Amino acid sequence: MVGKALAAKLAALGHQVTMGTRSVEKEAASAPAGINVRTFAEAAAFGETLISCTAGATSIDALRSVNRKDLTGKVLIDVSNPLVFTPGQLPTLSISNTDSLGETLQREFPELRVVKALNTCNCQVMVDPARVPGEHDLFIAGNDAAAKQQVTKLLHEFGWKSIIDLGDITGARATEQLMPFWLRVFGMYGSPDFNYRILKSPAIVRTT
Ligand SMILES: NC(=O)c1ccc[n+]([C@@H]2O[C@H](COP(=O)([O-])OP(=O)(O)OC[C@H]3O[C@@H](n4cnc5c(N)ncnc54)[C@H](OP(=O)(O)O)[C@@H]3O)[C@@H](O)[C@H]2O)c1
Repeated sequence: MVGKALAAKLAALGHQVTMGTRSVEKEAASAPAGINVRTFAEAAAFGETLISCTAGATSIDALRSVNRKDLTGKVLIDVSNPLVFTPGQLPTLSISNTDSLGETLQREFPELRVVKALNTCNCQVMVDPARVPGEHDLFIAGNDAAAKQQVTKLLHEFGWKSIIDLGDITGARATEQLMPFWLRVFGMYGSPDFNYRILKSPAIVRTT
């Protein structure tokens, strides 16, 4: 879902997109128009910027399946959440508190410049923030300032106006841990068309 939504949006903005999958033939049949569908390895080789939007439990394995040289120096936007699904229960997190999936990816693949982003809202809101009227925020985190700048530029292209930089990649702990809250709000409204907004006193200034 996320991969297709992001691919369609990127293509509409004029970017060239290749989606990675384990099932090229099957996914090619339902891919958005103008999107190439290839293996994960071929997609990683193609992309100047990479987006990780696989099921969180499998993100590391998906990236291990690509040629490491195709990761070197590239920005990877990590949209995934480390959710564990149990029938009849709300999903839980497999990584939390003192660690996150974003950090795990950065540790496992130090050659990548990982930026955690977009994981705190539904994929339709990701690519069309105006679905939720008014001002609302998106959060990013990562160790590389230039990578975060590059991602911020792309997010502005998507229509995001307020992007809050939570600092280094440990900020991924905070955004991934919003998921239990997000899932409960979703349960209340039965719609994913909502988002977060940080409201602050004008007297408060940023100190970090
Ligand atoms: N859905 C949302 O609106 C939303 C919002 C924010 C964040 N996220 C996060 O974004 C990620 C994708 O969500 P989604 O809703 O798009 O999920 P999805 O539709 O179930 O897509 C799952 C993706 O994970 C891949 N995958 C599954 N098992 C795999 C394995 N064993 N090895 C390698 N790849 C595997 C699939 O690849 P194949 O094509 O090979 O099956 C597919 O690309 C998740 O981490 C989710 O928590 C989702």
